[in-house]
Amino acid sequence: MTLGAVLVGCGAMSQTWLDAIAQIDGVSILGLADLDLARAEAVAARHDLGDVATATDLHELLDRTRPDIVFDLVVPSARHAVVSAALAANCHVLSEKPMAESLAQARDLIARAEAAGKIHAVVQNRRYLANVRRIAAHVASGMLGEITSVHADFFLAPHFGGFREGIQHVLLLDMAIHAFDAVRCMTGLPARNVYCREWDPKSSWYQQGSSAIAIFEMGHGALFTYRGSWCAAGLGTSWECSWRFVGTQGTLTWDGHDQLRAEVTTAKRTGLFDEAVAVRLPEAAPAGRIGGHVGVLQDFIGAVRGGPAPETRGADNIQSLAMTLGAIASAEAGRRIEITI
Ligand SMILES: NC(=O)c1ccc[n+]([C@@H]2O[C@H](COP(=O)([O-])OP(=O)(O)OC[C@H]3O[C@@H](n4cnc5c(N)ncnc54)[C@H](O)[C@@H]3O)[C@@H](O)[C@H]2O)c1
Repeated sequence: MTLGAVLVGCGAMSQTWLDAIAQIDGVSILGLADLDLARAEAVAARHDLGDVATATDLHELLDRTRPDIVFDLVVPSARHAVVSAALAANCHVLSEKPMAESLAQARDLIARAEAAGKIHAVVQNRRYLANVRRIAAHVASGMLGEITSVHADFFLAPHFGGFREGIQHVLLLDMAIHAFDAVRCMTGLPARNVYCREWDPKSSWYQQGSSAIAIFEMGHGALFTYRGSWCAAGLGTSWECSWRFVGTQGTLTWDGHDQLRAEVTTAKRTGLFDEAVAVRLPEAAPAGRIGGHVGVLQDFIGAVRGGPAPETRGADNIQSLAMTLGAIASAEAGRRIEITI
């Protein structure tokens, strides 16, 4: 059965989404909504969506098209209202990150989805990168022993324009949440507490929170440090961060591109150091569950068709949001914050 879908928010991300949706069998776009009708119409034309319905008002579009699914890629401040409207219209919802602006909103959306009996999931596409899957598999195999610390660096200087330059805590809310979700995926560890400092360099063109350093205590006492800036020009890292995983028996590094290396210790010691030997990691990711947005969409559509609950369902993803909001609360309060959902 073909599933009918409405896509809300025809901004920059709509291109990525519509390209990904085109790769999924049995999904038909019935309508496009945006506060700016011209944007919806331009997207319809660019993607050759024929006589797809367009509207500025989501409620009216839902009434007109009666879709099975709403794809939500509006700005974060509009998310709660959009997802609530979609669930009230009996639709399954796949949202962009962050899933909400507060834990209260996130809990409310989870409860609404449960009451409606609908799938509610979030695009955390970094989980669906082949190298993230490879690292998760190697950490789970115990190759590094028990993970004792993880470190992620993110330094880029993009001039986006648009909503990002006018919001508070922009790095933590809009970007760091990818790394926070990825570390949960790669280690399987929950976050317990966080201490975070934000700063805005003199050169920053963002309103607030362009740069942040956060120290999380994860399960088993492992520490996760995140250092990031969205206005650090030169020698940029990957968009996926540059990572180091330290375990009781070795270390794995990933440059966020194609360089994935690991060394484990042997029983020998030379001078000050235990011998560490390179470990070859299999090139291929474990089968399936990759492809960024396409991978998230496949799992979401699979769940809508009666398959297993998506990995990024709201009820789980609230833990990644709690890491972000915990870091923000810590930066505001100047002290360590316990992470609760
Ligand atoms: N997963 C990723 O890798 C990734 C990457 C970039 C952005 N994002 C997320 O995607 C979302 C959108 O980002 P973007 O860069 O496309 O932003 P954007 O500003 O380019 O587009 C957002 C669009 O939503 C529309 N909009 C706002 N409120 C609306 C409402 N109530 N009803 C209908 N339309 C509404 C705006 O008019 C705009 O056209 C954000 O949550 C962002 O964090 C995710």
